[in-house]
This record gives sequence, structure tokens and C-alpha cells, in this order.
Amino acid sequence: NHIQWFPGHMAKARREATEKLNLVDVVIELVDARIPESSRNPMIQEIIGQKPSIIVLNKADIADNKVTNAWLEFYRSQGLPALAIDAQHQKGLKALEQECKKIMAPYFEKQKAKGVKPRSIRLMILGIPNVGKSTLINRFVGKNQAQTGNKPGVTKAQRWLKMGKEFELLDTPGILWPKFEDPKVGQNLAITGAIKDSLLHMDDLALALIEILLERHPEVLKKSFQLTADQLETLTKVEILLEITKKMGLKDDYGEASQRLIIQYRQNKLGNISLDLPIERLV
Ligand code: G4P
Repeated sequence: NHIQWFPGHMAKARREATEKLNLVDVVIELVDARIPESSRNPMIQEIIGQKPSIIVLNKADIADNKVTNAWLEFYRSQGLPALAIDAQHQKGLKALEQECKKIMAPYFEKQKAKGVKPRSIRLMILGIPNVGKSTLINRFVGKNQAQTGNKPGVTKAQRWLKMGKEFELLDTPGILWPKFEDPKVGQNLAITGAIKDSLLHMDDLALALIEILLERHPEVLKKSFQLTADQLETLTKVEILLEITKKMGLKDDYGEASQRLIIQYRQNKLGNISLDLPIERLV
């Protein structure tokens, strides 16, 4: 499932996404709610162009609710429809359908005035790897999975999946590349597991996560690793990692401890922690 992105691959991904875009009414741009900015393609606005779109923060079940809401407000303040969902547990999907209908309502009104019967709303899902695109397609379509045949005029056969009576969904998502320039973005993608075999070392990721925990979730360090308030105030990140290593019973094997800490984060064992904040985006 891993994709290596080279300029040629990016051009191809963009071309394929654009081909799909031409076929649909509304684009569902999917991001990871824990890292909405880091999991957003840098050229997304340019690629989507004038096509109506909704930014959908998936995995809301494992993100920090308050932060997710702040992100929703941020995107909406920019005139971008935004919703949070948990595709895995099918939460928020009805609201997402409603939002698509709302976007299409003026168009269908006009059509109706011209005597044209309403048709299904055509959707596609677009996003970088690992944000939950396949999961959302599967949950959206559910058991009523039925193909409605191919549409002519595109290089690759695009299949439509029926979603109830009112929607049709492209069976394959548009896949885009993540941002690479900003080291913080790479770090966030690696911590969440979006980049699997990254060049980043586990101990660097663990230290980055510890920094976030120290700043915003000290209670996690206290509860999960029995660190005292005094320790949190006086110890450096590295010293905290060494303390965690001891608490895990790993003596001085901080490499192993780092790995375990990151896995605990990915498995949501540390609680709902978002890495990207909209505040940072604004400064
Ligand atoms: P992609 O098509 O965009 O590449 O993503 P995909 O659906 O494969 O999902 C990537 C991972 O994210 C999967 O976990 C999937 O289960 C998980 N996921 C998708 N949606 C949600 C959600 O709403 N909440 C949570 N908590 N997780 C979600 P995985 O570890 O790669 O595989 P597995 O554990 O499902 O086997």
C-alpha cells in the first residue's frame, strides 16, 4: 500500500485525479482529523479548482474533539464546507450526504425549473494515502454495493457505486501525495503512521510526541507513565524519554521505548491527541 512519490508519479496522480474530477458533482476531500494540515495535499485547491468540495476530517474518533471543532471553524471561516466523521464506525456519513445535497440544491432547482428531472449526485473521494479513503468508500456503499456501469470517454474505466437512490460514488479514490517540504509535516505523518518506512528515526518521533504531550497533554505523561508534576517541570524531553523507558521496564533501551510509545499513540492508547493545531496555521 506504500507509494513512493517522484515528480513523474505526482504528475500522473494529478492527471488521474483531474480525470475523475471531471466526472463528479462534489469532491470529498479526506484528511486525518489528527493532522488536517499535514495530511492535506499542497496543491489541493489548484487541483480541485471550481468544483464544489467538502473537506472531511476523518478518524475524528481518535482526534481531540476540541481541536477538531477549531479546525472545522477555521475551514468554514475560509468558505470551505467542513465536516468531521469516523468512517470506521460509520459516524457522520448521513451529515456528509446532507452537505452534498445542500451544495447541489441550487443546481437541481435550476434544472427542475427547466423541466429536467433530478439525477443522482456523483461523488468522488480524494486524499493522500492512509486518511481512510477505502474505508469510507466501503462504509458509504455498504451492502447495497452495485455497479452502474462505465462512463465512456475516459482512459481508464471508472466504475460507479450506487449509494442509496440519491448518490453515485466513483469506486476508486483520487490519490494525492502529501507535503514533503516542511519537516514538521513529515514528522506528523510518520507519528500517525501515514508514512511507514520513513527516514525519520523512532526516537526523534518519540521526542516530538513527548514535546506535544508536555505542552498540551501533561496528564497523559502523568497517568500513563507515572511521571510527577515536578519531573514534568524540571526534566528535558530526552530525560522524560529515559524515564518512560525505565517505566516500561526497558532499562536504557530508549529505541525500543520510542517504538512502543509511537505504537501506543497510533493505537490511541494515550487518548485522543491531535498533532496539528489551527492556531499554528494562522501564525
Ligand atoms: P486509504 O484508503 O486512504 O489509504 O486509507 P484506508 O481506508 O486504508 O485506512 C487507513 C487506516 O485508517 C486503516 O487502518 C483504517 O482502518 C483506518 N481508519 C480509516 N477510517 C478510520 C476512522 O474513522 N477511525 C479510525 N480510528 N481509523 C480509521 P490500518 O491500521 O491501516 O488497517 P486496519 O487496522 O484497519 O487493518
